[in-house]
Amino acid sequence: MAQAALKPDRTRDWPFQVTPLSNVLGCEITGITLEDAVSPKLFAKVYEAFLDYELILFRDVDLPPATQVAFAKNFGEVNIHVLSQYHGYGHPEIYMLSNLDKDGKPSGKHPDRGTLYWHTDGSWKERTGQATMMYSETLPPPGRGGETQFADMYRGYELLPAAIKKKIEGKRAIHNFTFSRKRRHGEDPLTTKQSAEVPPVAHPIVRTHPETGRKAIFLGDHAEYIEGMPYDEGRALIEEINVLTTPPDNIYSHVWKPRECMVWDNRCTLHRATGFDESQYVRVMRRCTITGDRPF
Ligand code: SIN
Repeated sequence: MAQAALKPDRTRDWPFQVTPLSNVLGCEITGITLEDAVSPKLFAKVYEAFLDYELILFRDVDLPPATQVAFAKNFGEVNIHVLSQYHGYGHPEIYMLSNLDKDGKPSGKHPDRGTLYWHTDGSWKERTGQATMMYSETLPPPGRGGETQFADMYRGYELLPAAIKKKIEGKRAIHNFTFSRKRRHGEDPLTTKQSAEVPPVAHPIVRTHPETGRKAIFLGDHAEYIEGMPYDEGRALIEEINVLTTPPDNIYSHVWKPRECMVWDNRCTLHRATGFDESQYVRVMRRCTITGDRPF
């Protein structure tokens, strides 16, 4: 059950350094290692920073794939993605985003064009993504793209005009991975078997964060239509809300360096990657998504 809404307290007395990454969301944690961060002694505090800032970042981290999976498990059950062709390093829990071809050269193809549109990981599942832990291996040179942008969906809710808030009150959107994958990556859609594993699912458009008790918009690119509304009307409203909740002043753009580990909260943020020249540069990231609750 949701508790009374917790105001984020970004001035707590932390047993490590916390430096905001922007006025929107995100903080960098320094003064402890990632290993310390997931230790029983410190994890509760680190988790508090994660809830307050919606995104935490550790720089200069050596994180072998097996350790990433082990660390991600501190946040909860790690999801095994239905698109098994993306599993990496022999760990089904790892989802690779890499444009390297089999000869170790840039392939000229974006690995997952769905990631270029505002979305929240695993919103197409009944139990949606709670957090995502992403690690940066290789990146295009600075200024050549391949950033990740984050938008705050608590504020996204506040930004909506009263008339739209009224329209979506109590409404649910249907999130459908078969729809979004085909739309953005049509040459490589889900197989019939994969599609059957992830049937469309209804989630409230305004969800209550199960830990902070705050209201957040829960839509993004996997949301196809709105229950009880004509299909085209619902589609148009979803697109309109995705735009209204992501104005420039509600976005943090992260310019990655190699060896960074970030964890973000999928329950109150949207994110998207920015493009880069996939035939010239290499970008290799690996991601673990932690399964959360059924939104309410
Ligand atoms: C994602 O959408 O989960 C990955 C974003 C990125 O590649 O920057």
